[in-house]
Amino acid sequence: MYAEKQVVLGVSGGIAAYKAAALLRLLVRAGADVHVVMTQNAQEFITPLTFQTLSGNPVHTNLFNLIQEREIGHIGLADRADLVLIAPATANLIGKVASGLADDLLTTTIMATKAPVLFVPAMNTNMWENPVCQQNRAKLSDYGYHFMQPVHGELACGWQGQGKMPEPEDIFDCAQPLLGTQDLGGKTVLVTAGPTREELDPVRFLSNYSSGKMGYAVARAARNHGAKVILVSGPVHLTAPQNIETIRVQTANEMHAAVITHAKRADVVIKAAAVADYRPANRADLKTKKSQGPTSLNLVQNPDILDELGQNKQDLLLVGFAAETNDIRQNAKAKLTQKNLDLIVANDVSLDDAGFDVETNIVRFFSADGTIEDLPKMSKDEVAEALIKKLVTLMGQKPEGRSGR
Ligand code: C5P
Repeated sequence: MYAEKQVVLGVSGGIAAYKAAALLRLLVRAGADVHVVMTQNAQEFITPLTFQTLSGNPVHTNLFNLIQEREIGHIGLADRADLVLIAPATANLIGKVASGLADDLLTTTIMATKAPVLFVPAMNTNMWENPVCQQNRAKLSDYGYHFMQPVHGELACGWQGQGKMPEPEDIFDCAQPLLGTQDLGGKTVLVTAGPTREELDPVRFLSNYSSGKMGYAVARAARNHGAKVILVSGPVHLTAPQNIETIRVQTANEMHAAVITHAKRADVVIKAAAVADYRPANRADLKTKKSQGPTSLNLVQNPDILDELGQNKQDLLLVGFAAETNDIRQNAKAKLTQKNLDLIVANDVSLDDAGFDVETNIVRFFSADGTIEDLPKMSKDEVAEALIKKLVTLMGQKPEGRSGR
């Protein structure tokens, strides 16, 4: 999303200003061209040199700097931006913008830009809860400015409460949809991710190596394209993505219940989870002792969630994943037909850079119309983006009437 995008990072004068440096690093690594604009007070907390070094661009601090004005121009910055991110946004800055003041370079840039603006407030709890601040926030939201909520925790001033700036990774994630096309606007996409855990006793379970990275990337990509996303996630070590309804489950049965319930409000279901096909026939209430055995396990079959959705689907667009170690083409095509899917994403999990718990994937799309597309090795985010673009195309080919659910 950020590649080759022009981002203005506005930094106002709060202690969280130091975290803006980590945010800047994330943006630059993702390929954005970032121009930092600092208020006078922000420079008391962190030096422009830090941001200049990390961004590779001059830092803008002064509305009336003749050299900066000639090279960039305060309106030029506002004009060229694809996104304006204000992190941290102090009560003072929010108040100034809400009152129509533009008395420094940052407020002038915010006032002059047509790009989406995301405020990331950070301040003392009482300041945030002050009705004046809340009214300013509400007023700016009404005008179409975007806001993140400050998070609860221990504040630099010693207070406990809401007011902390969200983590740079969360800000980075939250801003992405503001750069995306909204071609899934009005659609609801349900995504499953991760493994399931099938318990043998209170301390042991059967599971697999799925990390959830692919499914989480798909959920974020769908959200970035404007969809409302419901993520049904097995046990993984990933933080819940921003602005996605995340439902956590453990077992295949729990995933089954959650998916069947929530699929009713979905236009698209993407089943990236690695669901356990079998579970132990009995779960012991107490930890099984070594001396008690068992030396063999009795297993029973779990419901095939995707198959059930496929057999009952009407105008739902249904996407499955096929993790295979051999005969990919035959297995993927068989699943596509048997489970009545629109698309299957197949990969060879025995390859080094594909499948479970790695950052990249090498996949092939098999569509119901018989077309096959081979994708090169890509990051999981890139695969997810390619998948969502493919879905947009497929939705365009479907007869009308899908969105009226
Ligand atoms: O048949 P197989 O398990 O290989 O198919 C994989 C696809 O089916 C994946 O999309 C997976 O999420 C889904 N699946 C399911 N319920 C199961 C097993 C797999 O929905 N019990």
